[in-house]
Amino acid sequence: MPDKAEITIGDSVTQWPIDEATIGNHGIDISTLRADTGFVTLDYGFGNTASCESAITYIDGEAGALRYRGYGIEDLARNASFLEVAYLLINGELPTSDQLTKYRNEITMHTLLNEEMKRLFDAFPRAAHPMGILSAATSAMSTFYENYHNPSDPEQVSESSIRLIAKLPTVASFAYKKSIGQPYIYPRNDLDYSSNFLHMMFALPTHEYEVDPVVARALDALLILHADHGQNCSTATVRMAGSSEANMFASVSSGMNALWGPLHGGANQAVIEMLANIKEDGGDYQKYVAEAKDKNDPFRLMGFGHRVYKNFDPRANVLKDFAKDVLEAMGRQDELLDIAAGLEQVALEDDYFIERKLFPNVDFYSGIIFRALGFPVRMFTVLFAIGRLPGWIAQWKEMTEDPRTRIGRPRQVYVGAVDRNFVPLADR
Ligand code: SDX
Repeated sequence: MPDKAEITIGDSVTQWPIDEATIGNHGIDISTLRADTGFVTLDYGFGNTASCESAITYIDGEAGALRYRGYGIEDLARNASFLEVAYLLINGELPTSDQLTKYRNEITMHTLLNEEMKRLFDAFPRAAHPMGILSAATSAMSTFYENYHNPSDPEQVSESSIRLIAKLPTVASFAYKKSIGQPYIYPRNDLDYSSNFLHMMFALPTHEYEVDPVVARALDALLILHADHGQNCSTATVRMAGSSEANMFASVSSGMNALWGPLHGGANQAVIEMLANIKEDGGDYQKYVAEAKDKNDPFRLMGFGHRVYKNFDPRANVLKDFAKDVLEAMGRQDELLDIAAGLEQVALEDDYFIERKLFPNVDFYSGIIFRALGFPVRMFTVLFAIGRLPGWIAQWKEMTEDPRTRIGRPRQVYVGAVDRNFVPLADR
């Protein structure tokens, strides 16, 4: 591997150090480029720009591989629990049995919300999108834990991390219950993480609600598949907010708002809406593939394409089989799964998708499983956020602990008016 890179600008040649990766792309360190050359780089969407060194998640977009702290997500989804993976992402190692028991207990003991927080839910219209409630409640949570805001105090960081992971399912289920006019169901300490969330979502005070272990296990695996994904839009937002030393709650809340967009985590809701439209339209997915290829039509095949994966998104592979298994285990059919499989087949044989290396991504099948598990469509991105939370926390923590971290402040290439004299209103 070369030990330096050269940049030639006119007659001047400058050399730049290489930042070596353990696997994947190495980096050209241009930290003093502007000072040394007067130039900045331009990279819309940062497709070629690393914002940091990270040891958390490795994605091989060409090979379609995804590993959390070096472990393949297929292994983790099949063999680990979500809290085990959360511990791995945040601490860097899989927990021992004692460490996992301690961690589980810490999370369980913090699932209740402060009773004063319940008033926050009443401030929202009944039809409020739960992502708006989730990010507001997460930011509001910071006001209840002001003594845990210091990003350089490991104890305070750990306390914030436990509270966020413990309370997010409670916030999510309260938002859902409010939207359907049902009473809040409080967390139960005798249930595991995913079972407790399902119970808070679907139980009623009027009768016992038995959590189906198949559903709980499926939800746990789904959360694992969403747990981290390198420097994606929402994680980059969490890092950017945290780089100003904003507290963890505030930084995570900003990431939730970025995730809400239909090009990012909001895509899982958009996929189901798209598949339902195709079903309404008589199942003619060829028409939608044609629309997606039409440059004059803003319609995109939701759940297809990815900035990094130029091969299958390995999560989509796992989720496709998973969807079939969950539906079978629950004795359910879902016509949308057949439409999705047909749409995928047509797209993968179409030159437009082949040339642009557009494959199904994590959002293409996840919605079908969330639906089969009984979740309403508008809760899908909330589920993505609950899954991604340990990743956001791990990335935020890595950023705060990195001695090279500086406040995020990109430059620009200015193309506006240069220097104009003010014209008084009377003369305009
Ligand atoms: C997630 O980054 C992450 O890691 C995100 C994520 C995570 O875990 O955090 O993996 C989660 O957000 C998955 C992506 C969910 N979004 C969608 O499914 C929305 C539909 N997909 C696209 O909008 C798009 O593919 C993106 C946003 C995912 C990626 O956008 P890029 O990398 O900026 O690609 P692009 O928009 O420049 O597209 C390149 C070409 C364009 O055509 P040309 O101009 O070259 O002719 O591909 C076309 C695009 O028009 N294209 C699509 C398409 N996606 C890209 N055409 C039709 N349908 C699509 N879905």
